[in-house]
Amino acid sequence: MQFFMLVNTQQYRTIWPTETIATEPKTISIIDQTKLPHAFEIRQIGSLAQMITAIKTMQVRGAPLIGAAAAYGIALAMLEDDSDASLHLAVNALKSSRPTAVNLQWAVSRMLACLQSRPNEARHLTAWHEAANIAEEDVAQNKAIAQHGLVLIEKLYQNRKNQNRPLNILTHCNAGWLATVDFGTALAPIYAAHNAGLDVHVWVDETRPRNQGAALTAWELGSHGVPHTVITDNAGGHLMQQGLVDMVIVGADRVTSTGDVCNKIGTYLKALAAFDNHVPFYAAVPSPTIDWTIKDGLIEIEIEQRHGDEVAYLQGLALDGSVQNVRLIPIESAVANPAFDVTPARLVTGIITEQGVFAPHALKRLEIIA
Ligand code: MRU
Repeated sequence: MQFFMLVNTQQYRTIWPTETIATEPKTISIIDQTKLPHAFEIRQIGSLAQMITAIKTMQVRGAPLIGAAAAYGIALAMLEDDSDASLHLAVNALKSSRPTAVNLQWAVSRMLACLQSRPNEARHLTAWHEAANIAEEDVAQNKAIAQHGLVLIEKLYQNRKNQNRPLNILTHCNAGWLATVDFGTALAPIYAAHNAGLDVHVWVDETRPRNQGAALTAWELGSHGVPHTVITDNAGGHLMQQGLVDMVIVGADRVTSTGDVCNKIGTYLKALAAFDNHVPFYAAVPSPTIDWTIKDGLIEIEIEQRHGDEVAYLQGLALDGSVQNVRLIPIESAVANPAFDVTPARLVTGIITEQGVFAPHALKRLEIIA
């Protein structure tokens, strides 16, 4: 599959060592996602502290990408100080930077396991290599997800009642290449279908409060030429009742061993509407997003509570071309901002992984092969 991240004809990933590993990198480059879609800016991250800030402020975001970013954060920490104390400090600081996406915990634990038995002077180079492995594995997993998801899309495409209209796929938040190292999870099968010449159209939930759908998903689909329409978060149920949604595909931040899917706030409501309207609802998930240690997503997953300003203010392009924040709500109103919700397995048609598509109750089988 070709690489998609063409920005102004140049190919990009979301994260990369600024210098090659052979010449021992000193910084990591990222695309600053807080600037999209109005500006495309690359930042150099030169320390563990800067990486933690990039993760917390969501310059990098999306479960697989924050996993890779955290791995590179450990490499930066080892460049600064390769002692045991520094390693454990970095592990703990990164693990608490965003609590919900299990990829972050998984990547940091893997880095710790790889580094703790290494002599101090070897840690820095080993860390660059292991972080690069994590990034490459993400790309390979997403490529495989694209192919397994494509099979599902092709079936629905052949069987759609009205062959004169596109296959309509609804997605929530951004689970495209910007949320991963490359390709994306939920959007990867859609890119594959579009590349294969299938007439697909995407309903893009704007995804308040941070508008990852309106700002990021719309931008990346547009850059790749995939027909799409941005809708308000409340429009999906209505469109399903009208027969205008053939399939829902979302990403996930954590999936339980029993198939509960934790994803961006609002996903659960889409799953309920899909269930009520007999619209298939899929989560596209690389295996590092599955938390094999938990069974009940509602009880066992910590939901990140973010700052109320994300709800109170909207960021956008003003008429004079400047990017501005405007306040939406009365100054005295209280604000709550839970960032994720849990869709119970009973509402999930299937989980698209790099090893194939699993019914939620059959996900356990993946643990053995992944
Ligand atoms: O808060 P974000 O933007 O990091 O949330 C991202 C999502 O909820 C994505 O859907 C999820 O991480 C899957 S990304 C492949």
